[in-house]
Order: sequence, then structure tokens, then C-alpha cells
Amino acid sequence: MKKLIIINGPNLNLLGKREPNIYGSLTFTEFLEEIKDKYPNVSIDYYQSNIEGELIDKLHEVGFSYDGIVLNAAAYTHTSVGLGDAVKAIETSVIEVHISNTFGREEFRHQSYISPAAKGVILGFGLQSYELAIQSFLN
Ligand code: DQA
Repeated sequence: MKKLIIINGPNLNLLGKREPNIYGSLTFTEFLEEIKDKYPNVSIDYYQSNIEGELIDKLHEVGFSYDGIVLNAAAYTHTSVGLGDAVKAIETSVIEVHISNTFGREEFRHQSYISPAAKGVILGFGLQSYELAIQSFLN
């Protein structure tokens, strides 16, 4: 069984409540249940933190044993050299995802410290971005 983890960064614990016009009205817990039901033969762990260092620690913890990491570093995507370095430091492939199309938004969201080290980037498909990333690890 493939072992994957979804790691979400700051403010993504508020999905469903937070700017629903951009991020939708489903909570991540609801979405995760749907995804787990849909892919019963995949182990999908989940971790969310609003704290940069905790996200780095989690990447270190899973990054040498898991088969894939789906990472939405949220706002830290655009600011964190430390998270970008962590993605470079680990062995497990990371797919960067975003719910919104960050290139259609403010200029500061066009920069990513994760992308250069990611296996690929999926953005703009709403929560389906996560599912597409999971599928790519299964192929
Ligand atoms: C986001 C896009 C980021 O720019 C933003 O800071 C987020 C969410 C997305 O999933 O669309 O918090 O990563």
C-alpha cells in the first residue's frame, strides 16, 4: 500500500469558513473523508500547522520513508526559504499544490520557494488540486 501524506500550511485549518469565494465552502476534514473513501488502497495521512518550523519538522519526519508528499505551504510558499530548503533536503518527492490559481492573484503570490524543489506543481483546481496530486503518485 502506498503511503502518502498531505501537509497543509497556515490558515488552511479554516477552510470552509475562510474566504469561501476563493477557497470554497467544504472543510478539509469533509474533503479528506471523501478522498479516503475514494482511494481505499492508499494510506493518506494528514498534517496541518500554522507554524513554519513545525511544517519543516514534519517534512523531515516523513521525508525519508513516505512514498509521496502533497504540500500546500499556503502563504509560506511565497516567503519561506527554510521550507524550500527542507523540500530539497528530503528524499520523498513533493508535489506542490494550491487551491487557487496563484498566478491569477496578487504579484507576491507568483513567487514560490517550493516549486524549484518540487516534482511538480498543481494549482487552480480548487480542492481537486489535492486529488490530482494523489493520482499522480499512483501512476
Ligand atoms: C494557497 C495560495 C496562497 O497564496 C495563500 O496564501 C493560501 C492558500 C492556495 O491554496 O490557493 O493560504 O496556497
